[in-house]
Amino acid sequence: MSSLQFPALTIIKHPLIQTKLTMLRDVHTKNHLFRTLLSEIASLMVYEIFRDFETLETEVETPLEKTTGYQLAKEITLVPILRAGLGMIDGIHNLIPRSRVGHIGLYRDKNTLEAVEYYTKLPPNINATKVIVIDPMLATGGSASSALKFIKDKGVTDISFVCLVAAPEGVRRLTTEHPDLPIFTAALDRELNEHAYILPGLGDAGDRIYGTE
Ligand code: PRP
Ligand code: URA
Repeated sequence: MSSLQFPALTIIKHPLIQTKLTMLRDVHTKNHLFRTLLSEIASLMVYEIFRDFETLETEVETPLEKTTGYQLAKEITLVPILRAGLGMIDGIHNLIPRSRVGHIGLYRDKNTLEAVEYYTKLPPNINATKVIVIDPMLATGGSASSALKFIKDKGVTDISFVCLVAAPEGVRRLTTEHPDLPIFTAALDRELNEHAYILPGLGDAGDRIYGTE
C-alpha cells in the first residue's frame, strides 16, 4: 500500500508480516527467535515486492518435452548494510538464489549520528543489475543515504530500498536526497527519540540479532 504522506514509500501490510513484526517488537523475544522472524519477514516482503517484476520467457526441457518457462528479466544484486542488514539476507537469497550479494559496512557514530563506513565489497558490473539495499531500520536515514550514494557512484540506476521499520524522519531524508528511490517497509513508526531510536520501534536491531545488547 502506497503511503499518502510519502508517495515513494510502500508499506507492506500483509497479515503474516504484521503478526511476525509484532513478535519482533516484543522486548521478551529472544535473539534466536528474533533472527528467525526477521529472516521470515524478509522473505515475505520480497515475495510481495517482486509480484510485478518483469520476466522473460525461456525454454525449459521437462523429462517429457520442451516447454516455455520464465526467468527474471534482470540480474539482482542484494546489498545488506552491515550488521543488521545481514539478518534479512538469507530469507531473500533463498527466494532469489541467483542474486549476487554485495556488502556495505556502516555504523552510526553515537555522538554525531553520522554513518561511518568500515567495509565495502560489491560485485563487478553491479551497474547492469537491479540493486536492492537492505537494512531493517531506517531511523535518521544517514546510513541508507550513504550506502545509496556509494552505490549510485558505481553507475547503478535501478535501486530499491527495503527496511522493516521506518521513521518519518528517515523516509523524509531519503525521499529528499534520492527522489527516484522506491522504498519498501513493513511499518512507518511515529518518530525518533532523543538518541535517534525509532519509537515505538524494536530497539537496536543489530544488538537483538547478534545478542550484543
Ligand atoms: C542501525 C541500523 C541502520 C542504522 C539506522 O545500524 O541497522 O544501519 O542504525 O540508523 P540511521 O537511519 O540513523 O542511520 P547501527 O549503526 O546500529 O549498526 P549495526 O547494524 O552494526 O548494529
Ligand atoms: N538503529 C536501530 O537498530 N534501531 C533504531 O531504533 C534506530 C537505529
